[in-house]
Amino acid sequence: MFKNVCCIGAGFVGGPTMAVFADKCPNLNITVVDLNHERINLWNSENLDRLPIFEPGLKDLIKRTRGKNLFFSTEIIEPIKSADMIFISVNTPIKSSGIGAGEASDLRWVESSARTIAKFSQGHTIVIEKSTLPVRTAKVIKEILHSNQNTSENKNKLKSFSILSNPEFLAEGTALDDLENPDRVLIGGEDEESINQLKDLYLNWVPNEKIITSNLWSSELSKLTANAFLAQRISSINSITAVCEATGGDIREVSKAVGLDSRIGNKFLNSGPGFGGSCFKKDILNLVYLCKFFNLPEVANYWDQVVKINKWQKDRIYKKIVEKLFGNLSDKRIAILGFAFKANTNDTRESPAIEISKDLLNEGAKLVFYDPKVSKNQIIKDLSKTIEMITQKNKDEFLFFADNVYDAVKDVDAIVLITEWEEFKNLDWIKISNLMIPPSWVFDTRDVVDPSRISGSSVNLWKLGNADFN
Ligand code: NAD
Ligand code: UDX
Repeated sequence: MFKNVCCIGAGFVGGPTMAVFADKCPNLNITVVDLNHERINLWNSENLDRLPIFEPGLKDLIKRTRGKNLFFSTEIIEPIKSADMIFISVNTPIKSSGIGAGEASDLRWVESSARTIAKFSQGHTIVIEKSTLPVRTAKVIKEILHSNQNTSENKNKLKSFSILSNPEFLAEGTALDDLENPDRVLIGGEDEESINQLKDLYLNWVPNEKIITSNLWSSELSKLTANAFLAQRISSINSITAVCEATGGDIREVSKAVGLDSRIGNKFLNSGPGFGGSCFKKDILNLVYLCKFFNLPEVANYWDQVVKINKWQKDRIYKKIVEKLFGNLSDKRIAILGFAFKANTNDTRESPAIEISKDLLNEGAKLVFYDPKVSKNQIIKDLSKTIEMITQKNKDEFLFFADNVYDAVKDVDAIVLITEWEEFKNLDWIKISNLMIPPSWVFDTRDVVDPSRISGSSVNLWKLGNADFN
């Protein structure tokens, strides 16, 4: 049967997810709507290099689907009216003020989406939570949808809703592969028929045994828990980097030995400058808030520690840089290689590069940035948010930008490698050392520098979690 689908939110999740749905389900007619005109214009741009997000394979996918059965629009009412299924895929950041500030999710965008659906939907609509949400948000959405049915405007219109939770587990940089070959698809709900309709959609490409169903609250909680577990592994391995440095260990060897235990597994055991991205920190803090709300302080403290270690790791790296550069960064130039929170994305949300750069700037350093996918404007925007001294006027005195690694490292005292971009793995270290000011340092936080390739040069190498390079 031909179905109209609407997705509210054309972001990192809504855009790629709906593009994969459109590709795999030719009988769907999908409209992704967003309030942000600029974002929608970029999704609609002729030049596919201008899509609002970078994901490997996305350009080809958009070329195949856009204008056929996938549409991007700022016109929200009509797609909602005609939709059989509506995905809510809007942002759910942490509240910045009021009750629960710094921990609880800010649900204003979810609530406004629910209100819009309540007002304009027609007939029976399946409403699907795609955003990551606090447990029991489905109840809030349900109340908003049903309360609207009794308004004078809607009284005589036949409207009904089913609410499902279908959290998204994609990771940025591998989003299309994750969507096309998911480890599992989780559908939470109460209404069997609606669950089956959503399941039928996924069955176009996902094997039946990978589609699991649960009640609404388990589904909402599973998403928060999955992210908390993944982040916990990173904080665990990062905590051991410091122990390696102190004792003579090498984190790569420890990580390999630990990960070969099939009960533990080898994924998410790469040490680094701390996890970034829009999800981990906010989802754990949200879990912490829920635990406090339900009077479970021991559980709250347990998960809070994962976030604390993550901050500690960034702090530790910045302090190490200051220590190696004789305790003084005043007027020193430092190249920051990589600004995205991980490789293969242009996303900088919660990137460790932001915090580390901020601390280095506060010590008086001048920073030269190079990232193959992150724009100069994005870096300025991210740093302006955290550092008051950055104004349009004076930023040129301490922020510099380069188009490639070799331009970035000219006349710098140190290099800090923060994102594990492939191109950083094969650099000409002899050439680089000749461009730097001696005694020069390279701080490798991502294990991208092969020490044998740097050994003939004059630079000093510090490697995270490796006592031989400390
Ligand atoms: P995003 O900020 O990139 O996109 C959200 C979009 O929703 C924005 O473009 C915003 O303008 C739009 N929006 C907000 N309110 C709206 C409204 N009322 N009507 C129309 N448009 C509206 O966010 P994202 O990264 O795509 O994340 C969306 C959700 O998915 C979040 O809950 C997030 O936690 C979750 N999630 C994200 C990822 C990820 O890797 N980014 C992975 C899994 C889950
Ligand atoms: C994460 C989850 O993986 C995904 O399932 C969820 O839907 C959204 O949140 P994402 O944040 O896009 O995805 O990327 P992810 O690959 O998980 O990396 C998050 C951060 O952890 C990055 O900063 C990355 O560099 C870091 N990381 C990851 C490590 O430091 N070590 C690792 O071994 C893995």
